[in-house]
Amino acid sequence: MFRTHTCGELRAGHVGKNTTLAGWVQTIRKFGSITFVDLRDRYGITQLLFNESLNPELEKNPLGREFVLQVNGTVSERSNKNTQLPTGDIEILVSSFTILNAAATPPFTIQDDTDGGDDLRMRYRYLDLRRPAVRNNLELRDAVNRAARNYLHQEGFLDIETPFLIKSTPEGARDFVVPSRMNPGQFYALPQSPQTFKQLLMVSGYDRYYQIVKCFRDEDLRADRQPEFTQIDCEMSFVEQEDILQMFEGLIKSIFKEVKGIDYTETVQRMSWEEAMWTCGNDKPDIRIGMKLLNLKKPDSVYRDRNASPELICGADFKVFDEAETVIALAVPGAAEYTRKQTDELTEWVKRPQIGMKGLVYIKCQSDGHFKSSVDKFYSEERLQAIAQACGAQPGDLVLIVAGAEERTRKAASELRLELGERMGLRKKDEFKLLWVLDFPLFEYDEEGNRWVARHHPFTAPKPTQITTMIEKEPAISDASKYLDHPYAQIKANAYDMVLNGNEIGGGSIRIYQRALQEKMFAALGMDKEEQQHKFGFLLGAFEYGAPPHGGIAFGFDRLCSILGGSESIRDFIAFPKNNAGRDVMLDAPSSIDDKQLDELQIRLDLKK
Ligand code: AMO
Repeated sequence: MFRTHTCGELRAGHVGKNTTLAGWVQTIRKFGSITFVDLRDRYGITQLLFNESLNPELEKNPLGREFVLQVNGTVSERSNKNTQLPTGDIEILVSSFTILNAAATPPFTIQDDTDGGDDLRMRYRYLDLRRPAVRNNLELRDAVNRAARNYLHQEGFLDIETPFLIKSTPEGARDFVVPSRMNPGQFYALPQSPQTFKQLLMVSGYDRYYQIVKCFRDEDLRADRQPEFTQIDCEMSFVEQEDILQMFEGLIKSIFKEVKGIDYTETVQRMSWEEAMWTCGNDKPDIRIGMKLLNLKKPDSVYRDRNASPELICGADFKVFDEAETVIALAVPGAAEYTRKQTDELTEWVKRPQIGMKGLVYIKCQSDGHFKSSVDKFYSEERLQAIAQACGAQPGDLVLIVAGAEERTRKAASELRLELGERMGLRKKDEFKLLWVLDFPLFEYDEEGNRWVARHHPFTAPKPTQITTMIEKEPAISDASKYLDHPYAQIKANAYDMVLNGNEIGGGSIRIYQRALQEKMFAALGMDKEEQQHKFGFLLGAFEYGAPPHGGIAFGFDRLCSILGGSESIRDFIAFPKNNAGRDVMLDAPSSIDDKQLDELQIRLDLKK
């Protein structure tokens, strides 16, 4: 037998037992004639004691870091116990050992606080994966996977695989393509998601489908994006939006329970897309932060406080507010005590190029009932009080105001809200808050391309009450700058995103399942009949053979794991991730291929500069 126990298994109760362990040498320490070795495997670390009698053997076969070692010996009680280690009560009195394989000196230390930089660790990812921190992440990923499968299995979902070599599926990114040797000059696309396949499975009658599946998207990468990532992809037939919301908040709650031991008993909060944009400045609000944004200038906003009218801030000779397209305020609880240094620092923060504001106005609502402001040259104390009140500020609060062009100001206010949430300690890693964002617009307008684009994807259904508008109205727009006046701009989608702590962890929709509406959708996106047939003939055809009403959702599996594991980066939860340039630095991929391979594919490279 190679081993009788693992390196994480032995306890005081095993004292006196003979044992054989196998693992990697983590550290070697010599004390006079005695040698201590920490032996590591996936399960933990056990201390080995080599006494004097083994020294001739050790001299002949010296040990080194990361050597693969098999030892036989007796479990004995440690005189100097290590309370930090589960095996810390015992050590192995080694009687014999075999070096199973020697190892070169590793390029970084294999421990949690390693000295290796990101690039080095990725190049030697197989060594990085030995570190307990990374191992814990992969164990968490396995637990999330199992919990998801258990829940979906119990709910009667079938795990059905769909192909990787397919035709393009539009999910908003570029496709990765694969040339076909047997069909020269033709290419497969790797799926951006199994979207059309899961819909076809609904047509086939598999009314509850799921798959934990790789998706491929050639898009700009960030900490929460990889070119190949994993989704928990699901679809159901004969459902309405409410059925999907219930089923899948059940999924996430059961993952919380099984993986983190958290009983998330409260109902998941819901917010319309519009409310999210107005009150938090983005479509994935972090609701651990209670503060809400208030638009002081837009008179048509339902999310403008009743008391906040543009007259409150305009006409006081303060040009910044008079001239700005948008003025957004935020009441920060208990921050009236901020010192000059702190408000100056926040002002510098909003002026950073990433945030792009020209300045920050503040009103301090002092506990003594007075109001101090960076703009008290322009506004009387009464007026400052009225603005603060409109913002819902209480004595002791600090009102912060940014102003400028609509889009940039909203983004800046959103970032400011998150930053303050961070500074106030509201974004705790071990507090989990779920939110459904609903009622997204069905279309967005691409002003440059002068065309409508699907906000989610082209298979998403409009709200049932708006189907007639879509069918009856023509999508064409004569003046691109007036797109907001077009009836299509008002159409809301039957789509939903699940947000966890300010991250979009899943998104889906109720689908179009009638050919005529799907054709209208494609046409609205600028596809003529020929292109529709070429790209989606299979789906339009399937819709003629009894397609049931259906809908679904996909969760970003890597993202979900990273948030549950308290990390910003999904790379920490992927065994072999790519870097931000989309490279696998360990494999050195992508790379060029042989001329012979190119010949077989009948491809000649003529790279444009
Ligand atoms: P969507 O494009 O919203 O929907 O993707 C679903 C979820 O997948 C995660 N995600 C990513 N994770 C890591 N790296 C990426 N590059 C990446 N892109 C997306 C996000 C996102 O919420 N077919 C539809 C789902 C449906 O309609 O059922 C789809 O793929 O967490």
